[in-house]
Amino acid sequence: MPDWSRRCPAVDPDNHHMFVSLGCATENLMQAAQAFGKQGQVHFDSAMDVVKVSLEPSQTVISPLFDAIPKRQCTRVEYDGRKLSNDDLKSLASAGQGKGVNMLLITEKEKVDQILEYVVQGNTTQMNDRAFVKELESWIRFGYDEVVSKGDGLFSGSTGNPVIPRWLGMELFNLFFAAKSENDKYAKHIRSSAGIAVFVSDRNDKEHWVETGRCYERFALQATALGIKNALLNQPIEVSALRPQFATYLGMGDRRPDLVLRFGYGPETPRSLRRSLDRVIVA
Ligand SMILES: Cc1cc2nc3c(=O)[nH]c(=O)nc-3n(C[C@H](O)[C@H](O)[C@H](O)COP(=O)(O)O)c2cc1C
Repeated sequence: MPDWSRRCPAVDPDNHHMFVSLGCATENLMQAAQAFGKQGQVHFDSAMDVVKVSLEPSQTVISPLFDAIPKRQCTRVEYDGRKLSNDDLKSLASAGQGKGVNMLLITEKEKVDQILEYVVQGNTTQMNDRAFVKELESWIRFGYDEVVSKGDGLFSGSTGNPVIPRWLGMELFNLFFAAKSENDKYAKHIRSSAGIAVFVSDRNDKEHWVETGRCYERFALQATALGIKNALLNQPIEVSALRPQFATYLGMGDRRPDLVLRFGYGPETPRSLRRSLDRVIVA
């Protein structure tokens, strides 16, 4: 079930990302269930807004996707520019398909450059939005002490930034966090990637948002199993005024683009922490 205390009203006013992340967790659960000899059925209960999973004994299947769960991460640094083989692109495309969810894989330079323009536009709008910046700030974990005590959020170290105490982090954030430098960083990040993937579902409702999360998680686990990194770049879909233009550019008509990400080859970065199990299980 969603943890409503962790909503992000500025960046995610309709809870779209919250239900997508619930889908990501569901997919991890399904991959892990198989590895422990259980087969699951997933059902979205729209009256309660929860995902229900029923598990039955089955054959044990330890898939490469299961092995990838503890290794997967969002890799928010420059990649090395290498392209993917057609076989790897096919394998990502098949991992990312689901019920009523499709994925576009974009590798042509002109299209990638155009998507970069949308990311820059979205990012500029977000950086000029005080509520967005405040919310982001509250989720950044600058130092080891706060990342260990909270066990969540965006760890500075995983974004290639220095690991420093919060007071210093805040000073630097206020001094250097500016649209131009962030946009330049995104341009480098996107140009060093092998391509962009965009997820789109047939209907804009919670059930499809959950399914999108399951598809993205399978995509990310398959990528990890192949040694391919990815990072989300959702600015063009988070800024609601930009989203319809972006959808039209991608030829999606009235459908809502759900997630945007880049992929390619790059280094490992320091990991985000996880909260302990007892903090995410409701008795
Ligand atoms: C629905 C959803 C949307 C996200 N959007 C973004 C995004 O736009 N930009 C970004 O840098 N990270 C984004 N993230 C990534 C999370 O910040 C990341 O998963 C979290 O910091 C934990 O790090 P990890 O996945 O590397 O363990 C998103 C995650 C989810 C589930």
